[in-house]
Amino acid sequence: MDCIRAITDDIWMVGGSDRRLSRFENLFPIPRGVSYNAYLVLDEKTVLLDTVDDSVRNQFCENLERLLKGRPLDYLVVNHMEPDHCSYIQDLCFRYPNLKIIGNPKTFQMMKQFYQFDVDSHAVVIKEGETFSSGRHTFKFFMAPMVHWPEVMVTFDETDKILFSADAFGMFGALAGNVFDDEADFPDAWLADARRYYANIVGKFGTPVQNLLKKVGGLDIHVIAPLHGVVIRSHIREFVEKYDLWSRYVPEEKAVVIFYGTMYGHTQSAALALGTQLAKEGVKNIAMYDVSETDVSTLIAEIFRCSHLVFASPTYNAGIYPNMKNLLHDMQALALQNRHVALMENGTWAPASGRLMKALLEEMKGMEIIAPVLTIKSAMKPEQEADLVSLAQNIAADMA
Ligand code: FEO
Repeated sequence: MDCIRAITDDIWMVGGSDRRLSRFENLFPIPRGVSYNAYLVLDEKTVLLDTVDDSVRNQFCENLERLLKGRPLDYLVVNHMEPDHCSYIQDLCFRYPNLKIIGNPKTFQMMKQFYQFDVDSHAVVIKEGETFSSGRHTFKFFMAPMVHWPEVMVTFDETDKILFSADAFGMFGALAGNVFDDEADFPDAWLADARRYYANIVGKFGTPVQNLLKKVGGLDIHVIAPLHGVVIRSHIREFVEKYDLWSRYVPEEKAVVIFYGTMYGHTQSAALALGTQLAKEGVKNIAMYDVSETDVSTLIAEIFRCSHLVFASPTYNAGIYPNMKNLLHDMQALALQNRHVALMENGTWAPASGRLMKALLEEMKGMEIIAPVLTIKSAMKPEQEADLVSLAQNIAADMA
C-alpha cells in the first residue's frame, strides 16, 4: 500500500522510512529510525527530485507507480549522490530508458564511480543559477558544495516557492504519516533529532552552510523539503535561525553540560558534586552525561546546544579515559569551537588527564579554559570542598 502525501496540488512526497536500521551510516544510533524523502512533480513533464535508500525501495516504487499511473518518468533531479538517496538511479534508467538526469559535473562524476550504466546518455549538466521548466514549474539550481558532500546542490521551485534542500534541514527519525512540521509539535518532536543530525552529519561544514544560507537567503521560501525528516512550512524562520547559530558554532543556550568518564564511580561522584554546587550557585538546566553510557553523537549535539562544557576524566594508561578521548577527538574532527570549558581530572598515582584534555582543547578554535583544573586523587575529599565551590563559582560567574 502506498504512503504518499501531497506537498502541493501537484508535488508529492514519495519516499519511505526505515525503523529496522540501528545505525545511520553504520555509526549513529537511530532509535526513532530515519526517513528517506523523495518528491515527485506531476507537471507537463514528470520530475522526480532524488531517490531513496535501498531499504525503502519497494515502498518508493509503489508510491511512484501509483502516482505516475503509467506515465513515464521524464526527469530525475539529483541533489545529492550519497547512496542513502540514490540507490535506485540505475534501475530508474532501465525502467525509463528516456529518463533525463539533471545534475552538476560532480554529480555525474560520482554517478560514474558508483554505477556501471551509460550515465552520459541520460545526463543533463546544469550550472549554478540555471533554470529548468517542467511546464507550470520552473526550477532553479544552486550549488551547495560540502553541505554534506562536494556535489550537493539544492533546487528551488520558483513556482510554488519550495526549497528542495538535500541534507540541509534534515533530521533523524522515521515518519509515521505526518510529514509536515506543523502536524506535530516541531520543537518537542523534531528539534533534538534535527540538532543531532546537523551536529554529526553537517556539523563540520559550518562555512559551506553559511554560504548556502547567504545564497538562498534572498529567496521567498514557503516550504523547505529536506531529504530526511519532516517538510518545514511553519517553522522556517526558527529552523533557519538554528542553522545560522550551529554553522557559526554559536551556542544556542547559555547552559552547562558536564561530561564525565568513570571506572568505579569516583569521578561520577565528583561530577555530581560539581553539578550540585552549580545548582546552589543558581545555575539552572544543568545537563550531565556518562560518556560510556550515552552515544557520542548525542554528546556532540549537546555541545552544539550549550555554552559551557565541563569534562571530568580519569587518567587511563597515563592518558585520557578512552570514551572521553573519543568525544574530544570527535569534537576536533567536527571543528567544534567557541565554548567556555572547565576540567576535572582523576588519577590514583599520576593524574594526567586534565593536562592532556587541555592540550587537545587548545588545538580547537576559540575554546576558553575558564578555571584551573580540579585534580582528584582517587576520590574527592571533604577538604577539597573549597576548590569545588571555587570551580562552581567560576563557571556560574562566567555564565552570568
Ligand atoms: Fe542523507 Fe549526505 O546523505
